Amino acid sequence: MEIIILPNPEESSRVAARLVAKQIQSKPDTVLGLATGSTPLMLYRELIRMHREEELDFSRVTTFNLDEYVGLSPDHATSYHRFMWENLFEHINIAKENVHIPDGLAEDIPVFCEAYETEIREAGGIDLQVLGIGTDGHVGFNEPTSSLASRTRIKTLTPETLSDNARFFTGDEEQPHHVLTMGIGTIMESRQVVLLAFGSGKADTVAASVEGPISSMMPASALQFHPQTHFIVDEPAAAKLTKADYYRWVYDNKPDWQQH
Ligand code: PGA
Repeated sequence: MEIIILPNPEESSRVAARLVAKQIQSKPDTVLGLATGSTPLMLYRELIRMHREEELDFSRVTTFNLDEYVGLSPDHATSYHRFMWENLFEHINIAKENVHIPDGLAEDIPVFCEAYETEIREAGGIDLQVLGIGTDGHVGFNEPTSSLASRTRIKTLTPETLSDNARFFTGDEEQPHHVLTMGIGTIMESRQVVLLAFGSGKADTVAASVEGPISSMMPASALQFHPQTHFIVDEPAAAKLTKADYYRWVYDNKPDWQQH
């Protein structure tokens, strides 16, 4: 794993965007795995800027999103469909038919989830997966005790995640407890992972995922088995890493050909 500690979310997002852009430039028909939440917003803004000002071309890119709320229609204000179109897809030249987001209204959930896995496989697998991380260690919506071999399926959110995400739901609107999410097994098959974490609220989780034991109680720790994962974290999120100085030295002394 590569642990990149940067002063703030802006710089972290710029490095993440460069990794995504490099991937697309080296393979124009790249398959991206994408995440929602507040963490990747600046990354998406930077990708939009690169599209507008540097001709980053998404015309042959395919995307698969990690997750969606069960029961929310694509045009629901809080759906992840809506989030992705408003924060990224509407502003780049992606082909609508190349965008895949789990269907929160799927009638037969197991059939839908299996078909989602098949679509990922048929697209050639995910080249680069963008991840955030929950305060409970989830990636996608793989909550603690998710099987580290899990595939796309329905999950029930923990009280911690419900409370973290309550800010997105207004007034008396009911917050879904159920979600569809790619599994940890699905995420582990992506060829490259870029995980972003910002703020002191993520410090314990980042330290446990990077330096703690691999455990389904800390789902992101499964990434210790992944051959090409970049954890890009800001200083507050890095505060509990015991080997932070080592990670900083490694990053500051990368050979030119390895720099992001
Ligand atoms: P956040 O969510 O980016 O809103 O902190 C992260 C996650 O739940 O994966």
